[in-house]
Amino acid sequence: MNTNRFNTSRTPKNVPAPVPTQFPPNSSYYEDLVFPYCEDISGYERLTKIGQGTFGEVFKARARDSGRIVALKKILMDNEKEGFPITALREIRILKLLNHENVVSLLGISRQKGFQHKTAGKGSSNKNNPGPPFGINVSMFFLVFEFCEHDLAGLLSNVAVKFNMAEIKKIMQQLLNGLYYIHSNNILHRDLKASNVLITKKGVLKLADFGLARAFSKPRNQKNRYTNRVVTLWYRPPELLLGERNYGPHVDMWGAGCIMAELWVRSPILQGESEQRQLYLISKLCGSITPEVWPSVVELEMYGKIELLANAPRKTKDRLLPYIKDNSAMELIDKLLVLDPSKRIDATLALDHDFFWNDPLPADLSTTLSHHTMSMFEYLAPTRHRRGAIKPAGPQQQVMPPRNQDNISSYQERVY
Ligand SMILES: Nc1ncnc2c1ncn2[C@@H]1O[C@H](COP(=O)(O)OP(=O)(O)O)[C@@H](O)[C@H]1O
Ligand SMILES: [Mg+2]
Repeated sequence: MNTNRFNTSRTPKNVPAPVPTQFPPNSSYYEDLVFPYCEDISGYERLTKIGQGTFGEVFKARARDSGRIVALKKILMDNEKEGFPITALREIRILKLLNHENVVSLLGISRQKGFQHKTAGKGSSNKNNPGPPFGINVSMFFLVFEFCEHDLAGLLSNVAVKFNMAEIKKIMQQLLNGLYYIHSNNILHRDLKASNVLITKKGVLKLADFGLARAFSKPRNQKNRYTNRVVTLWYRPPELLLGERNYGPHVDMWGAGCIMAELWVRSPILQGESEQRQLYLISKLCGSITPEVWPSVVELEMYGKIELLANAPRKTKDRLLPYIKDNSAMELIDKLLVLDPSKRIDATLALDHDFFWNDPLPADLSTTLSHHTMSMFEYLAPTRHRRGAIKPAGPQQQVMPPRNQDNISSYQERVY
């Protein structure tokens, strides 16, 4: 692993004074500090806004010296009364560790000095240190990424973008390569979805948005107790919905299954409006959640407390048949969307699946993408129409909500 992508960890001799425990009047503690490895934002010309996520805005920008196009992801500091957000620190630490063609590259961190703090000084959980007072100047920080021209949600919402089978295979192969790499480095992504999958105009796929990622360890004597309030609802696996806290890479493989089906369906396939409804939709597609198909489900906290759909047959293949004609594709989706996480296929085995080794073999996306000169991002796409969504299975199934969950505040569950 490359631990030296950009060097922020070494401490130069002229490091600034240690961080004070109290904010000096009229400034936040880091305002007067020198950040030797943090370039100033004035080195970039902002071109256009390309994303609005949970934690802030993303801009396309140009480096004034080299002309290099980058993506700047603003670190939301508004609610930070106690300094640099821990979530952003986590994202930076993980991205610094990772170095793979199918994982987005963090190029550095940039600072904009003297930003007006809007909510500062109010409601801090730390009574001794209420944060900088309202209206004072505090810095804004940006993560600087290599720029990718599209995200998968943007591409799939554009009907003019048509991927053939060989190209779909290439997308999935790269997605699984990225997952294989992060999982073998003991990192869970925990927010896999189409808008967090970037694709360059040359057709190279990059896993992005490590804002919810974490390192994991194989449980030994003690079970892990990770939070289960992760993964955007539509891509959240059944074990997390049922309260599992001792989970591993299989949570990302469920998301990979949802994304794989979405490559044909062109819309998220399981669009629940609540956790209960999400479980209902999962059972409608993948069959009832029972100890017969998933013996250890009985140990999960929510099992028995939440109403589960009884006697539903597994219909994964039947429901997807109108969209997917390829047998091996269907087989692989079926192995990814397995209810019992211990039986769900992992990235290594998925990459070995016949789907990738049968004709047509995976083929480069660059020709198809070269027909599209405009960037396609979820943020820029008009609200997704329901045309591509899986047809409702019965009368009680409600109208599909629009694809952009980021607009629905109840889905913004980013708790650690
Ligand atoms: N390196 C990048 N190149 C191009 N677009 C990007 C890049 N990083 C993020 N984006 C766009 O910004 C959106 C939000 O960024 P993301 O990292 O997912 O943040 P959030 O945690 O706010 O969802 C992405 O869905 C994508 O459309
Ligand atoms: Mg995102």
